[in-house]
Amino acid sequence: MRIVLLGAPGSGKGTQSQLMVKAYGVPQISTGDLLREAVAKGTELGRRAKAAIDAGTLVDDAIVLGMIRERLDGSDAANGFILDGFPRNLAQAAALAELLSVIGKPLQAVILLNLDLGVLFKRLTGRRICQDCGRVFNVLTAPPGTKPHCEKCGDAPRLIQRPDDREEVIGKRLEVYEAQTTPLIQHYRENGLLRVIDADAPQEVVFASLRQAIADSGG
Ligand code: AP5
Ligand code: MG
Repeated sequence: MRIVLLGAPGSGKGTQSQLMVKAYGVPQISTGDLLREAVAKGTELGRRAKAAIDAGTLVDDAIVLGMIRERLDGSDAANGFILDGFPRNLAQAAALAELLSVIGKPLQAVILLNLDLGVLFKRLTGRRICQDCGRVFNVLTAPPGTKPHCEKCGDAPRLIQRPDDREEVIGKRLEVYEAQTTPLIQHYRENGLLRVIDADAPQEVVFASLRQAIADSGG
């Protein structure tokens, strides 16, 4: 399985990727997670990426492509992968196609998680992350009365907000998505890889649509 999950910030790429990892046993490759990890470790790459992430703009293609090349080379990606948040512009899409054609393993499908702007905003402002294990929660979209419970960290996980989930940065991220990433929708529609699913539904309903889209694309 070689899938790209395409979608605006907050559309559920990370959440659905996690469900896919469990169901299909292929790794999630999230450029956002890889970049945040590099920032947290204070590596040279992380230092160079931090300003763009904090401002809600895209990190340089060269940095991201270097990271992706290395990650796709990992033995766990030999039987497939889920790309979450990559590619993010037409140049990255071209580089990915080239990379995969060299190894003779083209993409199987690009699945767009479709969601209205108003819903995206609520999902992003309500998102919280467990500081200890990275599990993702939402204080606004979780069913009323549910208390955050972390499988690893217990009943009172220490929840933090991603710095780029502050309201002033969210606007910029959505603007960047519109300007730089939405052209990929037409691009993948034209080459026949695009599948669109409705992401405005409970996680398990979205996941059922995702599974159907994967099955329809031969996976
Ligand atoms: P990245 O980490 O990729 O962020 P993003 O694309 O903005 O997407 P998010 O992670 O915010 O949202 P998501 O779609 O994963 O949603 P989630 O499942 O968490 O990128 C961050 C930054 O890194 C970029 O701004 C850029 O600077 C840089 N970067 C990354 N990739 C790059 C690249 N390729 N090139 C250049 N720069 C790059 O869900 C969101 C919330 O909603 C959660 O709280 C979740 O619990 C909740 N939720 C999910 N599904 C549902 C549902 N069905 N119903 C109700 N709530 C739900
Ligand atoms: Mg994510």
